[in-house]
Amino acid sequence: MESPSDPALAHALAAHKEQFAARFGDARGVRLFFSPGRVNLMGAHLDYNGGPVMPATIDRGTFLALRPRAARSVHFASTVEPGELAADLDDLPRTPRAQWTDYPLGVLLRVLERARPEHGLQVLFGGNLPIGAGLSSSASICVGLAFALERVWGLEGSLADCIDAALWGEREFVGVRCGIMDPYAVAHGRAGHLLWLDCKDASIDHVPLPAERLLVAVADSGVRRGLAQGAFNQRVSECAQAFELLRPFAAGAECLRDVSREVVREHADRLPETLQRRARHVVSEVARTFDARDALRRGDLERFGAQVSAAHASLRELFEVSIPELDVLVDAAQEWPGVLGARLTGAGFGGCVAVVLRREAREGFQEHVERAFQARFRRRPTVEFFVTGGGPREL
Ligand code: GLA
Repeated sequence: MESPSDPALAHALAAHKEQFAARFGDARGVRLFFSPGRVNLMGAHLDYNGGPVMPATIDRGTFLALRPRAARSVHFASTVEPGELAADLDDLPRTPRAQWTDYPLGVLLRVLERARPEHGLQVLFGGNLPIGAGLSSSASICVGLAFALERVWGLEGSLADCIDAALWGEREFVGVRCGIMDPYAVAHGRAGHLLWLDCKDASIDHVPLPAERLLVAVADSGVRRGLAQGAFNQRVSECAQAFELLRPFAAGAECLRDVSREVVREHADRLPETLQRRARHVVSEVARTFDARDALRRGDLERFGAQVSAAHASLRELFEVSIPELDVLVDAAQEWPGVLGARLTGAGFGGCVAVVLRREAREGFQEHVERAFQARFRRRPTVEFFVTGGGPREL
């Protein structure tokens, strides 16, 4: 068990425990867990194309207050979302009900394939992560619950088992065709580092982010989208189609990441125009992500930031997942002196923009971006600085 390193987090979890008591009568025997969200800085929409990605866990996430109970029943409630699930552990619903509880239910069903718990559970979910904002609230919940179940039921599973349960819950149960990035990012986050995850073979590495020189800010457009609502799955299908059409010209390629930029350039006219744009984004983003990693390793922050901004241009023009609200945030951030790069983070269609800036550029930055956004959309976005944090833990 980890002692709370961050007093603010310990404080927030203590308040969450009180909410558990208010909801379930008392808080005797409750265990508290934290599971982070993530920002992705490079490798946009590459995970389901077998490419590399560079996310970081943040100091915001899901709080779980969890209590084993003698009765063989499960009760999920939340301080941030309406709707609950109360069911018999031996007779759980087998189909999603289009509400947030589908995510933890999917995880639970997967964990129960290898667990024979003697007791049921009460779980109160909560936290300080905006939901559906591209900061991976769903993977945060799913990995967090799997992690907590491992400990509470004494299963001794690994992080890989938690990732498996989270992926199964989202893909097989909820039906989002997401890639592997988010649960890996949540599970393997390390403070002060970006995760390097190669989604072709799931190999990982940690690349230091020089926190003494730069900051990560996140600007939330306030526009929410549901991942399961089709546009994301449509991008996954388009990339798969583009790969099938290019495959005959790329010997040995197993995924779109393996197709070279030359092959895309030479054979693009065999693809419908939309698929050409999708393929061009993927192959250029693969090259940018490797370049960004190398730049970060040699301390070239300008170059790293330039690739972050180039990723946004490609997401806007070629992958077509940006919206005016995100573009205004990116443009406003990029014009601020000392900003190294800015881009949408997560799937797009709404949510947040991640900004990498020099430490000394902090003063006045939030106000500038908020004003620029307000001038156009007549409402204030939230702009905050996030600290990179560790993976899931018990507090
Ligand atoms: C969502 C998905 C991820 C990834 C990103 C885009 O967050 O869940 O798997 O595809 O979009 O990079």
